[in-house]
Amino acid sequence: MKATSLTVDDSIRRDAAPARPRRTLADLPGPRGLPVVGHLLALHPDRWHLDFERWWRAHGDLFAVRLGRKPILVVADGELVRDVLQRRPAVFRRMRTIEDVSREADMVGLFSADGDAWRKQRQLISPTFHARHVEGFFPSISAITGRLRALWAQAADERAARDVLGDLMRYSVDVTSSVAFGRDLDTLARGPDALQEHLQRVFLGLNRRMLAPLPYWRYLGLPADRAYDRAIASVKRFILDLVTAARREIEGGADRPARPRTLLELMIAARDGEDPKARLSDAEVYANVLTMLLAGEDTTANTLAWILYYLGSRPDVQARAREEADRVVVGALIPTLEQSKRLEYTGAVAHEALRLRSAAPLLYLEANHDTVVGDVAVPAGAGVVALTRAAGRKPEYFGDPESFRPERWLGGAPATLPHEPRMALAFGGGPRICPGRSMALLECAVTVGMVLRSFTVELADPAAPVRERMAFAMQPEGLRIRFTNRASA
Ligand code: HEM
Repeated sequence: MKATSLTVDDSIRRDAAPARPRRTLADLPGPRGLPVVGHLLALHPDRWHLDFERWWRAHGDLFAVRLGRKPILVVADGELVRDVLQRRPAVFRRMRTIEDVSREADMVGLFSADGDAWRKQRQLISPTFHARHVEGFFPSISAITGRLRALWAQAADERAARDVLGDLMRYSVDVTSSVAFGRDLDTLARGPDALQEHLQRVFLGLNRRMLAPLPYWRYLGLPADRAYDRAIASVKRFILDLVTAARREIEGGADRPARPRTLLELMIAARDGEDPKARLSDAEVYANVLTMLLAGEDTTANTLAWILYYLGSRPDVQARAREEADRVVVGALIPTLEQSKRLEYTGAVAHEALRLRSAAPLLYLEANHDTVVGDVAVPAGAGVVALTRAAGRKPEYFGDPESFRPERWLGGAPATLPHEPRMALAFGGGPRICPGRSMALLECAVTVGMVLRSFTVELADPAAPVRERMAFAMQPEGLRIRFTNRASA
């Protein structure tokens, strides 16, 4: 195996000096838009990523659209996508509406903060995702994976097809809440929890507002927006109580809990030298606990659901992954931490699913000041949509790009086929690359290892279409899986 092929590369060239601009946004090709609204009405509410990708196939790697009055440069060229991602936070930021909407909810955390505020948070929070901490969370992940197994074993007994996405959402809520603040919601066994329902409303509300052409909620009190405000208030009360309790514990003793057990405790204990300003305030800890819950939940659940989709539709892939799981996970149904790390082919399946079905197929950015992308002048305030998934589907980076070929990640693709892991951008890239990626990949390894050891998996209705749907993250719509208990399990 190529040892480096499974690692995500964030060492993007820092010196990429932009060429002199030869074109403006007005010179670029693009779909025809309407006066005033531009291309807003052309975007399907829950499949707009596919609209952008359709335009990419029609107009090429650099084209322009308009969302309302905002001019947007759309970039699909892998090198240019990486260049834009790298030139953050100085030249590009996340699209400003993301921070504005988050600020209204007092949740400017790592994902939505920008500039110096982001820099400070990233510096303090990144170490909490260090492997030793993530591995410290393993017992919780393993226990919750056991519950998922029990649920699917029962479905197998009853020969019932499962809506696995729903199950995986509850699984990842249980994992992230237990890792983030040490509370096991156990939504897998008990059904929806009030907190989870509030979180779901927050998710939908944030999504709606971030994509709204106008901040209508500031003038109209629609029922959905009132429900969103109430959900935010409840979640905030809940998390701030936990922050206060954890801080009291820390301040009552040494400067950190004897053994920080949760992301929340790690964030409270995080400091950069003795300067009190170089610590996270309660408001910042709150914003980031909520950010972790939102950023870690749907993304991981959707990725796992897509992996099950591929296992169910590709018996050859399933057989090879099972052979590995049986060889590595000896005498147990749930892999240990050590075993999870040795499931190389399963890791390759996850990387290939992320390449083709990234939970975040595009990223919304904005230019802080006048700049250049490739040969195009981009004025301050213009939007930049980075088509990260499109970059990973180009034949010059990944040979036979539309085929699901996990072996390409293990050096198993023919040498004639290009293979450029640095163009797999499902976790983003540059200084803002996803800090939760190792945790997500660990969750994938444990869960898929458990599935392979316990069940055979098939699509409940192979003729029924499974479509991509964009909610907060991109998910499979219509996926139903039938599990069969393995005799050995
Ligand atoms: C398969 C699962 C996941 C996927 C596909 C994913 C994807 C992404 C992507 C594309 C970004 C934007 C990166 C950029 O702007 O360059 C991001 C950012 C982020 N993710 Fe993830 N993510 C996943 C899981 C997680 C988990 C489990 C956590 C935490 C528990 C997490 C926390 C974050 C945070 C805090 C950011 C913001 C980082 C920043 O702006 O500095 N993610 N993620």
